[in-house]
Amino acid sequence: ISLEEALYRPNFHFTPKANWMNDPNGMFYLNGTYHLYFQYYPYGNVWGPMHWGHATSKDMITWEEQAIALYPDDSGLIFSGSAVVDKNNTSGFGKNGIMPVVAIFTYHNMDMEKDGKIDYQTQAIAYSLDEGMTWTKYDKNPVIPNPGIKDFRDPKVMWDEANNKWIMTLAAGNKVMFYSSFNLKEWTLESDFGESIGGHGGVWECPDLFSMKVENSDEIKWVLLVSINPGGPNGGSATQYFVGDFDGNRFVMDDDFSHQLEAKDSIWLDYGKDNYAGVTWSNIPETDGRTLFIGWMSNWDYARDVPTFKWRSAMTIPRDLQLKKINENYYLESLPVDELYNYAENTIQKDLVNSKELEDLINHSNINLANINIAFDLKDLKETNYDFLFFNKEGDMLSLGLNNMETEFFINRTKSGKVDFSEKFAPKISTVKTSEILRELSVQILLDKTSVEVFYNDGEVVMTELFFPNAPFDKFSLSSKDKTFKIENVKIQEFKF
Ligand code: FRU
Repeated sequence: ISLEEALYRPNFHFTPKANWMNDPNGMFYLNGTYHLYFQYYPYGNVWGPMHWGHATSKDMITWEEQAIALYPDDSGLIFSGSAVVDKNNTSGFGKNGIMPVVAIFTYHNMDMEKDGKIDYQTQAIAYSLDEGMTWTKYDKNPVIPNPGIKDFRDPKVMWDEANNKWIMTLAAGNKVMFYSSFNLKEWTLESDFGESIGGHGGVWECPDLFSMKVENSDEIKWVLLVSINPGGPNGGSATQYFVGDFDGNRFVMDDDFSHQLEAKDSIWLDYGKDNYAGVTWSNIPETDGRTLFIGWMSNWDYARDVPTFKWRSAMTIPRDLQLKKINENYYLESLPVDELYNYAENTIQKDLVNSKELEDLINHSNINLANINIAFDLKDLKETNYDFLFFNKEGDMLSLGLNNMETEFFINRTKSGKVDFSEKFAPKISTVKTSEILRELSVQILLDKTSVEVFYNDGEVVMTELFFPNAPFDKFSLSSKDKTFKIENVKIQEFKF
């Protein structure tokens, strides 16, 4: 295999075999298979006329790339959107008892855009009668014409059980718009949300609305995800969220969440630079009950410039979202899906080690760092730094951890290898504030060849970032001035795929 494949093709993050990918689209689950579609340009390694690529998986970890699902046509390019399993055949696309799967996407008409028009984005549908493998576009598209809004895209549709109708959440410039439908063909505008709420450093994109049970309670709340670009907490693209209630017509923010927002302007799903445009899977069985999410592991600031050429971009590890309420504050937490751990071939587990022993455990085993999950709890922390460092023999270094003086978590990729392909890739260290000086902390570090996903305190704070070392990272160290803190319950898992 080529050097590029060996050094940079992720071990366990989805990438297309070749060429350009951005947002995840149309994810649904049916009959044991998870489907993932994605913004795809099959003829080059930078963004170009968009198609929907397709991949399938039994467990969201190992993927099989399928034939391209949707091609652009005279109405436009196929931008982001969603897919639903229409169990009751509300759309009437089903035939001979076959349930249709319906994709809802945005047509982006480049000719109209070139002509200086602003109404070039419309919403359209297509259906599949073979569980998502092949698609037929509806012959009366678009189903929602453009009302005169320049950025009018990324429809995410869900079934509203309580009100027996479909709800579409759509990004519309600096807000989202909610539409409803009984048949996925005729849509009624219900309301909008967000014009003067939340982060507005960039245009709103790829929203998602879903309900969740608040952990350890019977309370149901609605979560609204909104990606924005630019305006992220560490620059460029990022995904914020809102917690509230939805009555079939209107999304109203929860009072406690409004208070949380007052102090911060926006609250983010991930504070790293590389988790964008993520949305949730539809049709997850009630017996499973999880809210499953995947994001595009890149950032529009430099996505076109990252130093892989055969393919460009990967997805995040799929994540299990949980909604927690602690002291009147909501947290949308995310952790890797449990399916990942089925691939742990080599597991080292130990209680109470010091930092030297932790380093030895990692460095003196045959563990391959480009393939690893390290989880541990820290106790008795002081007001100083706790740096987790990954090195290689080329002198590249990735560091991340807790700065307990400045009360912040950080990822520092400024010296992580190839960084100068874009000025925006690593101009500074990415940070996020902790709520206070921490005395204890749980840390989970998921490392692949070119990405790190760090989950603090069971996913309460998450940071996802890319890096491109000149050689694989093969050495780990934990550095701190504090010599007395404790490390409990270390678990190191090496994966085999
Ligand atoms: C988000 C986005 C979407 C759009 C798609 C185009 O990354 O800009 O709003 O539908 O990418 O590829």
